[in-house]
Amino acid sequence: MKKVIVTGGAGFIGSHTCVELVAAGMEPVIVDDLRNSEERVLRGLAGILGKEPRLYRIDCADDTAFDQVVRQETPDGVIHFAADKAVGESVSDPLKYYGNNIGSLVTVLRVMARHGVKNIVFSSSCTVYGDSRDLPVTENSPVLEAASPYGYTKMVCERMLRDTSVSDPALKAVLLRYFNPIGAHPSAAIGELPIGTPNNLVPFITQAAAGLRDKLTVFGSDYSTPDGSCIRDYIHVVDLAKAHVRALGWMAEQQAPLCETFNLGTGNGNSVLQVVNLFEEVNGVKVPYVIGPRRAGDVEAMYADTQKSATVLGWRTERSLADSLRDAWRWQQALAGDQK
Ligand code: UFG
Repeated sequence: MKKVIVTGGAGFIGSHTCVELVAAGMEPVIVDDLRNSEERVLRGLAGILGKEPRLYRIDCADDTAFDQVVRQETPDGVIHFAADKAVGESVSDPLKYYGNNIGSLVTVLRVMARHGVKNIVFSSSCTVYGDSRDLPVTENSPVLEAASPYGYTKMVCERMLRDTSVSDPALKAVLLRYFNPIGAHPSAAIGELPIGTPNNLVPFITQAAAGLRDKLTVFGSDYSTPDGSCIRDYIHVVDLAKAHVRALGWMAEQQAPLCETFNLGTGNGNSVLQVVNLFEEVNGVKVPYVIGPRRAGDVEAMYADTQKSATVLGWRTERSLADSLRDAWRWQQALAGDQK
C-alpha cells in the first residue's frame, strides 16, 4: 500500500493519520473541503512533515469531483474520515447527517468501484454499542439501537460496507470503532479545532482552563460509577492514527473478500472527574467546574475490549491518559499563542 486518499484528512483524526502514513513511508492525498477545519492544519502538517500533503479542496460526496481525484491519483486505498460528528446537532438536523454521512460513503464506494480501488478503512464509533451493560465491549457485542441519528449513520455505514463486500468479492474493508479520541500531536502543530462551544469533554476542559469558558459542567454525578460521573475510554489521537497505518498493512496481507471490525481504545475506563483531576495534576492548572444534570443520550460507561486489535492487528496503545492531557493542554496553549 503506497498512496492513500484520506477523506477528511484536514480533520482531527485525519490530520494525525496523515503524519503517521508519511512516517510509515506512504503518501497521503487529502480530500477535504475544509468545512470543519482550517488552513492552519495544513501549515501544521507542513511543519511536521517538511511539506504539505497534496490537498483536493472538494466534497467527497460530489461524485464528479471525487471521481476526477481518484482517476488522477490512482490510489491503492481510501481512508474515509469525512463525516459530521456532533451528536446533539444530529438530533436537531437529522437530514444533514443522513445526507452527508451516508451519502458520502455511497459516493466513495461507487467511485472506488469505478476505478478498481479495492481497499477502504472506515471511521466508525463505539456509539454502535449503545448503552451496553456488558463491559468491556468486544467486536462481537451486539450493535444496539442508536441513541442519535449520528450513531445511526455509523450503523448504516457499517452495514453498507458489509453488504458491499459481499457483492464485490475483491473488496477489502476495515471498520474501526473509535472510543474517545483526545490529545494532540506532541509538537503542538496540529490538534483538535472545535468550532464554537466544544461538545466534547477534553476541548471544553482545555478552554475552561485557559479562561476561554467560564466553567465546565460535569454532566451528572448520580451514575452508578465509583464517583458518580460517566466513564469513557480516552485514547491518544496519535495511537489512534497509528492503528490506521497498521490496519492498512494488515489488509494488504489478507485475501479478499474482507470486512473486519476492530475496537480502537485503551481498554481502560476513566470517569469525567478523574479526567478533570488528572488534567489539573499533570498540567498544574485549575479547571473551574460545576456539577450539573445528566446530558440526554449519554451512556453511563463505555470501554473497549482490545484483545482483537492486539492479537490480529498487532496494535495497542502506547500513550497514557496523562500524556493525552498534557498534549491537549500544550495544543491549547499553542492556539492561544497564535491568537496573540
Ligand atoms: N462531558 C461533561 N461535560 C462536557 C462535555 C462532556 O461532563 O462539557 C462528559 C459527557 O457527559 C461524557 C464524557 O464527558 O460522560 C465524554 O463526553 P464527550 O462528549 O467527550 O464524548 P462522548 O462519549 O459523548 O462521545 C463519544 C464519541 C461520539 C459518540 C458518542 C456516543 O465521541 O462519536 O461517544 O456515545 F457518538
